[in-house]
Amino acid sequence: MVIRLLQLYSDRGLTIVKGEGQYVWDDKGNRYLDVHTGHGVAFLGHRNPFVVEYLKRQIDNIMVLSPTFNTPIREEALRKLAYILPPQLSHVYLLNSGTEAVELSLKIVFKSTRRRKIVALKGCFHGRTFGSLMLTWNPRYKRQFEPLGRLFEVVYLKPNAVEDIDKVLDDDVAAVYFEPILGEGGVIPLDREFVRALYSRAREVGAYVVVDEIQTGFGRTGKLWAIERFGIDPDILLAGKAIGGGYPVSLVAVRGKLANNIGPGDHGSTYGSNPLAFAAVAGAIQALLEDKVVEKAARIGKILINSLAEELGNVRFVREVRGVGLMVGIELRKEPTPTLQCLQEKQYILALKAGSTVLRLLPPYMISFDDVERIVEGIKKCLSLSS
Ligand SMILES: Cc1ncc(COP(=O)(O)O)c(C=O)c1O
Repeated sequence: MVIRLLQLYSDRGLTIVKGEGQYVWDDKGNRYLDVHTGHGVAFLGHRNPFVVEYLKRQIDNIMVLSPTFNTPIREEALRKLAYILPPQLSHVYLLNSGTEAVELSLKIVFKSTRRRKIVALKGCFHGRTFGSLMLTWNPRYKRQFEPLGRLFEVVYLKPNAVEDIDKVLDDDVAAVYFEPILGEGGVIPLDREFVRALYSRAREVGAYVVVDEIQTGFGRTGKLWAIERFGIDPDILLAGKAIGGGYPVSLVAVRGKLANNIGPGDHGSTYGSNPLAFAAVAGAIQALLEDKVVEKAARIGKILINSLAEELGNVRFVREVRGVGLMVGIELRKEPTPTLQCLQEKQYILALKAGSTVLRLLPPYMISFDDVERIVEGIKKCLSLSS
């Protein structure tokens, strides 16, 4: 019998055997510049030395342990998290994926409010397990499951539509969920004015504010957290992807007041908050701080976005270049798949898409000026070739 992987993702026809920094290698020895980074995970580069070192050390001590037992690596990771989390978020839990972080946050806000409604944004993506899927906007992902019924109500607000906020945010709302920059929805940055208005209205009606920084967080946008641009203090922050440097881990960080509302039996996960996850997070934070990752991402991100805007501004198929830091979207006037294929096969660059018309770049923080040039030239060539 031949066992095959369920085909949940399209096959890119490549076998990758190794990754290091901003590069990956295929089984024929070809080297690719990786701006796909496993859906944005390898922001610290592949096999970041700090993360590898922390994981190796932990493997030599103990790999698995229930969170009912303490470990030195847990204490170290918690101490390190105190350096990087907004000060009001005093309690954390580690889970294994972004969607699981969303699930735990939903339990916390519903249990804390006893309300049944969530406000989210049109175009948002928060994951694909049933709770997070209810939040995720894209009807293509969830229409087929809707006959099963709904656990709670979700009302969608148009991103940046300040005038609509009061229409949807009333005192039935348990929480407002948003990504500071909608990722999967097409790399759409939220305006400061919109987020601040949303935040004040949520405060007025007693709804909690949950910020999903699973894609934007940990330096990707040239700030440690993308919410720093808005000057708000969320009640819950969700992180994932980059925070484990490639190890599967996500983070739920909550305000102290909310932490008291959830206790033993309310949630659980066999692998949640395991020693290797703590080691990966501790190593990733060490890497972030020691190599000035946030500053570097801000600097090279600006150069990348400006060069793309300059060089692609007059290209026929380009509608807009947008993004913040190293989270970049190139909105095309056509479906991006042929361009992605061309980038992979002719330019040896791996990228991804967002929505149905956006070419998305999620490079690691260490990309060089030469890499930027290669990305810009590669996209320019592929857009002309695949016209
Ligand atoms: C903003 C955001 N939230 C949640 C998720 C879900 O994370 P995961 O795929 O790790 O479950 C993603 C994944 O792309 C994301 O970008």
